[in-house]
Amino acid sequence: MRGLMSLPVEQLKPEEQILILDFGAQYAQLIARRVRDNNVYSEIIPGDIKADEIVRMKPQGLILTGGPGSVYEADSPRPDPAIFSLGIPILGICYGHQLIAAHFGGPDFVEAGEQHEYGRTTIRRQADDPLFADLATELTVWMSHGDRVCCAPGGFLVLASTPHTPVAAMGHPQQAIYGVQFHPEVNHTPQGMNLLRNWLFGICECRGEWSIESFAKRSVALIREQIGEGRAICGLSGGVDSAVAALLVHQAIGDRLTCVFVDHGLLRANEARQVTEVFDRDLGMNLVAVDARERFLNVLANVTDPEKKRKLVGHEFIRVFEEEAQRLGGLDYLVQGTIYPDVVESGTQGSAVIKSHHNVGGLPDDMAMELVEPLRELFKDEVRQVGRALGLSDDILMRHPFPGPGLAVRIMGEVTEEKLEMLRAADAIFEEELRAANLYGRIWQSFAVLLDVRTVGVMGDRRTYGRTVALRAVSSEDAMTADWFRVPDDVLDQVGRRIMNEVSGINRTVYDITSKPPGTIEWQ
Ligand code: XMP
Repeated sequence: MRGLMSLPVEQLKPEEQILILDFGAQYAQLIARRVRDNNVYSEIIPGDIKADEIVRMKPQGLILTGGPGSVYEADSPRPDPAIFSLGIPILGICYGHQLIAAHFGGPDFVEAGEQHEYGRTTIRRQADDPLFADLATELTVWMSHGDRVCCAPGGFLVLASTPHTPVAAMGHPQQAIYGVQFHPEVNHTPQGMNLLRNWLFGICECRGEWSIESFAKRSVALIREQIGEGRAICGLSGGVDSAVAALLVHQAIGDRLTCVFVDHGLLRANEARQVTEVFDRDLGMNLVAVDARERFLNVLANVTDPEKKRKLVGHEFIRVFEEEAQRLGGLDYLVQGTIYPDVVESGTQGSAVIKSHHNVGGLPDDMAMELVEPLRELFKDEVRQVGRALGLSDDILMRHPFPGPGLAVRIMGEVTEEKLEMLRAADAIFEEELRAANLYGRIWQSFAVLLDVRTVGVMGDRRTYGRTVALRAVSSEDAMTADWFRVPDDVLDQVGRRIMNEVSGINRTVYDITSKPPGTIEWQ
């Protein structure tokens, strides 16, 4: 068995790509999405990456993101100055725009604006340039900045301005270096996508050949190359990500892939049965189902700390795999459905760790298998598109995302079999009613959470002292931000009444109205 390692990331990259140098932007992922929506692969990398690494990655263009820093502060994040002489087109957005001004003009070219500019505003074009090709003279854009570029450095043309922002856009056409103070990536800049397209295709000369189908083809070829004649094991969780990862690997190596489904007892109602039916019966894949329910309950006994639960479930999960791998013999590849937001949120790209996602952060150091992670670069809806292209049914594809540590992070406090049963029943009722009201497909994620409080109630003529269940439903594009979903009163009423009547031990239901941020989607 080999030690833990991944295929070198650069080997997985498509030929044409845009690199997004992140300086702490709120919108870095959104920028990446917008670029990909134009069939150009994009990737977020740390803002201080060295110029020679960039050269090695051969990007068509660089985007310097916004960020909370001020270029005139000594410790504000900065790019390697050599990136400006690589001859690769650059687009700076907000703080990125100010970085360009400070590099070419000096820190005095950026000043604290007398008035902060937040929200919608109108820019007026000052000069013609391919960046604004076919766009109107006046454009509505979204601004969110305190600092501003006061004048354009030598060689740069002022392309647009507002009354408060003399250099709302500037460009050095010969060097293909551009900066915009506003945010073209957000919906509040209606022509933002057109501007981005002008940059991608007019200035960076991208061809726009990246697509989900080309991704899938390339991915299958790379998996074949990585695994060679070897054999692999894949943990199916019941969720979309591991299912699609398994399908891709199955396409690549067929029966040399064995899928292991660990029933850790922390699953939603009927999930275990569904996985067996789909993968074993319908897709004809090698599937081993392991009943590890008792083992996980034992590991989780008396544990209440959320991070500890996450880590324990993650570790135990991998251990079960290792045991299965050993039992099956001769397997040295482990397939995981890690997706892009997991990678970014787990802090591997320089951003802060928010929660340790179990398929990234919880791996034991001594794990003795080489990882195959074909979805590492994809956002959730892109994973669904791959799944659909490979013929996976909507039952699995459209089921709401489910965290690796399962119901363990939806039970506040200690996990017990009794609580799991209660939660599963309440959760199933919520799902059923949302489906009946045709809301399920419009919601990113919905679930029940079992709280660690007991409250007094009255049922019949008797006093009760039961548990509280919280219902959570959110809309989101990629789980990085989320808004609470406005479930109509009558649906909530029906769910609440059914839970009271059908799930013994619960005597109160509440609805969670927290967005992300400041909350997270899961409660733990
Ligand atoms: P949070 O709670 O951080 O969740 O807003 C963002 C998204 O990630 C899911 N999630 C996980 N997925 N392993 C996973 O595969 C995990 O450990 C994990 N924790 C949270 C969560 O359900 C939401 O979709």
